[in-house]
Amino acid sequence: MATETETETDHDAIDLDALNVGDAENWQRGAPHEIFRRLRRECPVHWSEITEYPDEAGFWSVVTAADVHAVSRDHKTFSSERGGCIALTHAIPLELMRSMFIAMDPPKHDRLKALFQRGFTPKRIAMHEDEIRAIAIRVLDRLEGRETCDIVDDIAQPVVSRVIGNFMGIAEEDDKAWATLMNTTLGVGDEELAPGGLEQVLAEDLPEIFRRAQAMIDDRRANPTDDLTSVLVEAEIDGEMLSDDEIIMGFFLLVAAGNDSTKATFTSAINALLDHPDQMRELVEDPSLIPMAIEECLRMYPAFANFRRTATTDTEIAGQPIAEGDKVLMWYVSSNRDEAVYDDPDRFDIHRDPEHQAFGGGGRHACLGMALARLELKVLLEEVLQRYPHMSRAGEPRPAVSPFLNQLKTLPVRLNG
Ligand code: HEM
Repeated sequence: MATETETETDHDAIDLDALNVGDAENWQRGAPHEIFRRLRRECPVHWSEITEYPDEAGFWSVVTAADVHAVSRDHKTFSSERGGCIALTHAIPLELMRSMFIAMDPPKHDRLKALFQRGFTPKRIAMHEDEIRAIAIRVLDRLEGRETCDIVDDIAQPVVSRVIGNFMGIAEEDDKAWATLMNTTLGVGDEELAPGGLEQVLAEDLPEIFRRAQAMIDDRRANPTDDLTSVLVEAEIDGEMLSDDEIIMGFFLLVAAGNDSTKATFTSAINALLDHPDQMRELVEDPSLIPMAIEECLRMYPAFANFRRTATTDTEIAGQPIAEGDKVLMWYVSSNRDEAVYDDPDRFDIHRDPEHQAFGGGGRHACLGMALARLELKVLLEEVLQRYPHMSRAGEPRPAVSPFLNQLKTLPVRLNG
């Protein structure tokens, strides 16, 4: 089956003491759910050495919903700032990463996030529904006459890029360039998404992001608008304007988050529905079930497999001592399938209406864009299912090879069955 992309390894034979959860080998066919199932049962706080980068410190894996929740909510003990919020410290230079509020601790984090939060409440986001629907319809109209398409490249990517592009004030002709830059910087490790690897990202893509973002910032300084780029340019925290690096990385954070995760979830949702035609039919016949189905898609296919924290003091998680400075990864791909919370967790069921941790385990860093993501997903599913109720597979989907991005990079479909 295409959705449950397990490796063919005998997971019971894996030596958990020697296991590097993030080893690319384990992610060739998507998230290794069998490994996480064993960890939840046998070793819920697990130590991995990072074998592929010898200079990079190893990490603890937290895999149950209760532990992810506990780590997520305790920002004093588990910092997002000290070592950044992704596993590899050298992937983006730490100082740059800390210019994004996703990698800041309170109080600065809270002050910066508050600038955006007002615009991202469900009520304010709901005001964008018509505009998002118009974008989706325009993208689908371009498929007129086609028999097949790729859900990622032909539907998900252009829609999410334009939606976040509108928020940021990006010119539409630049959507593709931004999408490519986001896919390479976030997709390091996958040869198709980031063919030049980390080297190219550092040497070419990050400078290109800086160049493009700086041009937008200069323009907004000269011609203020009401887009989110202007919010960043005009932001004042405790009487101080943001530095250019902070503005650029704030811009990067919003464009990256907006481009990637919603696209991933929509694609996973279509993939799951193709595997469960009875549930697809239910949604076609009763679109009021779509919001509930979206929560199940978010649970089963969280777009980010993990985010990281760093211990600020010697502490413990579920009895396991953790030393100050240790990395802690919260694996949402695992916590969202925790048997202690979900009955038959690997079963896709649009009627489950679950709580989940796809948007994080709660606390200060809860996803800013969740209302926007939910609205985009709802509009996209409504429009696509209404137009193509008999959609079927036209080829095998391929997952990104990444322990961070839990997404399909291609999903070929036959539009009219
Ligand atoms: C299905 C789609 C999405 C998923 C699964 C998702 C997931 C997440 C997760 C897990 C976090 C927590 C990071 C942490 O705890 O360190 C997060 C934070 C964040 N997300 Fe999303 N996200 C999605 C869509 C969006 C969108 C559309 C935006 C657009 C603006 C966005 C903006 C952000 C920002 C700015 C943060 C940082 C919040 C903070 O540090 O306080 N996300 N997201």
